[in-house]
Amino acid sequence: MRPSGTLPEGSVPRPFPGASTDRPAASPALLARGRVAYGAFCAPCHGASGGGDGSVVQRGFPAPPPFASLDEAARAPARIVDVIRHGHGRMRPMAEQVGNADSWSIAEHVSRMGTEP
Ligand code: HEC
Repeated sequence: MRPSGTLPEGSVPRPFPGASTDRPAASPALLARGRVAYGAFCAPCHGASGGGDGSVVQRGFPAPPPFASLDEAARAPARIVDVIRHGHGRMRPMAEQVGNADSWSIAEHVSRMGTEP
């Protein structure tokens, strides 16, 4: 028996979920997952291709800027994860709906929108 709260011998402590060091590798599987999660969580406002023309916007919600118009710093995956977690201007925080893993998969997908065919 080991005292509770200690890690088993040989295990690597995992960073606090929410630390920016938790970024997973952008594998094809991660990007595929990101595409699907984006369609569920973001496309209603940001549009299927990130143009800022989703169905909610067509019903009068303020339009987000097209992702392709953002500069490099604004499209960095870690920054997009931050926006998902904490919100940005009129966009509300979505950490409750979008879990940590999906946040990263969506961020990798979004950061490629408009720059790759
Ligand atoms: C309810 C509509 C809505 C949803 C859902 C939504 N957004 Fe947004 N988003 C907005 C609006 C509106 C803005 C612009 C906010 C502002 O500038 O005041 C925005 C801004 C952003 C920005 C910042 C753009 C900039 O100017 O730097 C990012 C990144 C972003 N959204 C990503 C996402 C992602 C990823 C998701 C899905 C997890 C998502 N959004 C879901 C409405 C939404």
